[in-house]
Amino acid sequence: MCGIIGYVGNNNCVPYIIDGLKKLEYRGYDSAGLAVLQNGNLVTVRAVGKVAELEKATLIANPKGTTGIGHTRWATHGKPSEENSHPHTDCTGDIVVVHNGIIENYLTLRAKLEARGHRFKSETDTEVIAHLIEENLLHVRASHDQDRLLKAVQKTNKEISGAYAYGVMWARTPGLLIGVKKQSPMVVGVGKDENFLASDVPAFLKHTNKVLFLEEGDVAVLHVDGVTVLDKDGKEKKVKPVKISWDQKTAEKGGYAHFMLKEIYDQPQAIEDTLRTARTDFGKILGLDTDGLRQLRNIHIIACGTAYHAGLVGKYYIEQLAGIPVSVDLASEYKYRTVPQLPNTLAIAISQSGETADTIGAVKKAKELGFRTLAICNVLGSSLTRTCDSTFFTHCGPEISVASTKAFTSQITSMYALAAFLGQANGNLSQTAFEKLYKELLALSKDMGEAVKLEYEVRHLTRKIYKADRFIFLGRNVNFPIALEGALKLKEVSYRSAEGFAAGEIKHGPISIIDKGTPVIVLMPHDALFEKMLSACQECRARGAFVVAVTTKAGAKMAADVADQVFIVPQTNELLQPVLDVVPLQFLAYWIAKRLGCDIDQPRNLAKSVTVE
Ligand code: M6R
Repeated sequence: MCGIIGYVGNNNCVPYIIDGLKKLEYRGYDSAGLAVLQNGNLVTVRAVGKVAELEKATLIANPKGTTGIGHTRWATHGKPSEENSHPHTDCTGDIVVVHNGIIENYLTLRAKLEARGHRFKSETDTEVIAHLIEENLLHVRASHDQDRLLKAVQKTNKEISGAYAYGVMWARTPGLLIGVKKQSPMVVGVGKDENFLASDVPAFLKHTNKVLFLEEGDVAVLHVDGVTVLDKDGKEKKVKPVKISWDQKTAEKGGYAHFMLKEIYDQPQAIEDTLRTARTDFGKILGLDTDGLRQLRNIHIIACGTAYHAGLVGKYYIEQLAGIPVSVDLASEYKYRTVPQLPNTLAIAISQSGETADTIGAVKKAKELGFRTLAICNVLGSSLTRTCDSTFFTHCGPEISVASTKAFTSQITSMYALAAFLGQANGNLSQTAFEKLYKELLALSKDMGEAVKLEYEVRHLTRKIYKADRFIFLGRNVNFPIALEGALKLKEVSYRSAEGFAAGEIKHGPISIIDKGTPVIVLMPHDALFEKMLSACQECRARGAFVVAVTTKAGAKMAADVADQVFIVPQTNELLQPVLDVVPLQFLAYWIAKRLGCDIDQPRNLAKSVTVE
């Protein structure tokens, strides 16, 4: 939620900020703003709408300066309006703040500050930070302004509570930016005679791949020629820059109309890259020896949205391959339900961003219960990876589109590798069985390369069905979560009503919503449940549904008898099949949204990482 970028260097910061904001737009896009220090004065430009609106307004205002900050907003406190857009200022207008997260005690602080004569101009929680810094500057002692600002920020951090990351600039301290991180993402990019503050690496990846990952409570002090990091107690600490291997091009559309489409096509590579490290010693990652692995008795998977669907698939994998009972919870539910404190429990948190507040909260609870915690995550240095005992990284590169695609298939791939490892380690799988499963896994990237060739056919079909009011997705067993994911993807990007069901369940109620022409997308690879899926198609068709079957070559002919349209995906083993089955569903969502003229990469009301509860 919300994206922050800051620049300090020798060049005009405006193009860096606008470009950085475009890269961060996936984090929020209801308004945007920037502030530039120009000849000792702060020039602020803000606009409602996307970064493009800010860009237009900035061209007119034409500010120039070598220190600046910018922000793209996903509203939490106060409607999307120019007054509520960041940066926010204090009473003097000399302090500017951009912020991501929530200041939980802002109402109390605001009342206190107002009583002391501070005048507020917005409805946001952020503005209290600017006024508090203004207030604290009056009370701290320091020999020069740069130190004064730092001390005022540190004092402010002691007074605010919540999860936040923010950047500050003061008109009296040119060439200085201060960034604070507490439970919301914030990284520092270290360049040559220029440094960056940002919510996420793609914001500055074009200029540097050297990144300082901040820890909770850290304060980063950025000058043109260097960065100092202080811990929450104000003690200077050494943070080694990490070289990010992400190619800048992976954070760009590369000729595709949308990131979502590009990321669907990234999947063969994403799977290959994820698998490169998958045959890893998970035992070492988990910190468990053979006995420890054999003793694992329960696994809890926690995640949100699409990552939750990957977790549901993971349950089938772990139970079948490793014989360990698995529960899968929505992270927001896990936090508030009674979870039995059983020994030998492993909690696995799945998250693309590693910044999802609900998931991090659930992991904290799992830790309190004494469970070992493992993150399956895509973002190096993210809060989740710091919270969990250990992490297995999916390597799909930056995922920019709000609708998750390549992260999902990489997460499932990782869960399969983990399940196979656990099965081998606890003796549930023989070495031969393990090797066979692994061979199939290694062929997956190639199969995915075939699956993405389905775009043209899916695109063609969407012409017939895109105007439908509601869509239904059916799957069984390991494909049931794929039905849920197909429905989520479609509603997310096209705003159509869509629901996923276990195929065996429709006769218990959902079948009543099928009407003449209702598109029903049925996941029916040629496996042990194929015949049951044929019956499901017939039941739906008898009620007037327009049936679309997603099957494998061996099932194509029979599927054609009961469906209006058949898509053939490559065949892999039964467990891995969902990784390929989801591809036509991703294209379906994309093309329906496109035909309806929706904002595909930035659907209304959504943000890529949900860093608030
Ligand atoms: O970054 P995370 O994987 O933790 O995000 C979890 C969900 O917010 C996310 O999967 C969301 O459902 C996507 N927009 C789905 O496409």
